[in-house]
Amino acid sequence: MKLWSGRFSSDTDALVDELNASITFDKRLYKEDIAGSIAHAGMLGDQGIIEKSEAGKIIAALNDILADIEAGKFEFSLQDEDIHMSVEAELTRRIGDAGKRLHTARSRNDQVALDFRLHLKKEIENIRDAALAMMSVLLDIAGKNTETIMPAYTHLQRAQPTTFAHHMMAYANMLRRDVTRLEDCLARMDECPLGSGALTGTTYPIDRRSVARKLGFARITENSLDGVSDRDYAVELLSGLSILMMHLSRFAEEIILWCSWEFKFIELSDAYSTGSSIMPQKKNPDIAELVRGKTGRVYGSLMGLLTVMKGLPLAYNKDMQEDKEQVFDAVDTVKKVLPVFTAMLATMAVKPDNMRRAASEGFINATDCADYLVKKGLPFRDAYTVIGKLVHHCIDNGQTLEALTLETYKAFSPLFEGDVFDAVRLENCVGLRNVPGGPSAESVRAQLDSVAKFLKER
Ligand code: ARG
Repeated sequence: MKLWSGRFSSDTDALVDELNASITFDKRLYKEDIAGSIAHAGMLGDQGIIEKSEAGKIIAALNDILADIEAGKFEFSLQDEDIHMSVEAELTRRIGDAGKRLHTARSRNDQVALDFRLHLKKEIENIRDAALAMMSVLLDIAGKNTETIMPAYTHLQRAQPTTFAHHMMAYANMLRRDVTRLEDCLARMDECPLGSGALTGTTYPIDRRSVARKLGFARITENSLDGVSDRDYAVELLSGLSILMMHLSRFAEEIILWCSWEFKFIELSDAYSTGSSIMPQKKNPDIAELVRGKTGRVYGSLMGLLTVMKGLPLAYNKDMQEDKEQVFDAVDTVKKVLPVFTAMLATMAVKPDNMRRAASEGFINATDCADYLVKKGLPFRDAYTVIGKLVHHCIDNGQTLEALTLETYKAFSPLFEGDVFDAVRLENCVGLRNVPGGPSAESVRAQLDSVAKFLKER
């Protein structure tokens, strides 16, 4: 018999039960559901809304149920619809009337809002820790590669010289923002909705603040209609996860390019690569590709939940039950992806010679060559034109700026002197880019220190 069957004269159709039930996926909220019920029962007892002795019985039985679920000794049934009714029905089976008093001054609407928030608070911390671990691997790699010259690209065309450390620190900065986005989301959602009741609170003299404190919330929600109908914390989390995945996906794309024969800037460890069923020579970056692919899945969850929520009148609507699978799937995906990606980075081999070779082709020191003429007094736009012609000459003659003779240089501008060869040396091009944010070793060290400080503060 269903807990709510009183008003009905016949049973629900079996197909309805199947569509209506959320137990198959919301059973993962069992811990939070029980913690919330324990806090609620304790408060009901303290406030004299139920007998203290009954509250004690409820709490003891809830702890037993928790232990049974953890030991795999608990059968969830579709008949109980969702985690909230499963636990409550079992409680009443175990202790009878006292169990029936637990739901006083509470609704599944504020209960589910509570469980979901409690659960996501923990998951945000887990994901945040995994992102921090990835940042610390990026720091390791960067620390070892402050002198590893590589081309930096725009339009996937070699543009200017940088170092592998500088490139890694770009991702470390993205991840730092991802972490703070998660932290912001956590701080904003850190309010306890319990006591909102079905939608307009309750007439019982409950103590919402003590329940919130017991459950580790910073505050209580300030409006009961909002308390039961708000899911923007879940949308915000999905947005944060989508942005994080967008970053990982860009990184994955670069890894895929870098381990191709065309680049060979890195080699992935065998433990993080896969082979082909037919081509014996293949070593494929499947993990990076999956990260790129799974990004679409997380975006899908974000769009899914935004769409579920967009037309809902206040307060609770059953549509909102669709929030959980979207968020669980995104959380599971990110939790699976981050540690594998981190380990893949930690074990990959960096190929400085190949990076250096790529950097020495493609005229990535052309800007520096133009800047050389500017320093000799030529306006930048004129210098730009001279170097454009010089590069054209090099391309026609299979030359590089490093290998031209001084005579050739002088044929393009009388301002060129012997020190031009210093100006186009890649080490100098990088080393002199010493502005904050730039690729010089000193500048990258400052970036490393800043991110290291961020990690230390956490
Ligand atoms: N399983 C429901 C959900 O996930 C719990 C809330 C049900 N409330 C209701 N009034 N039917 O949203």
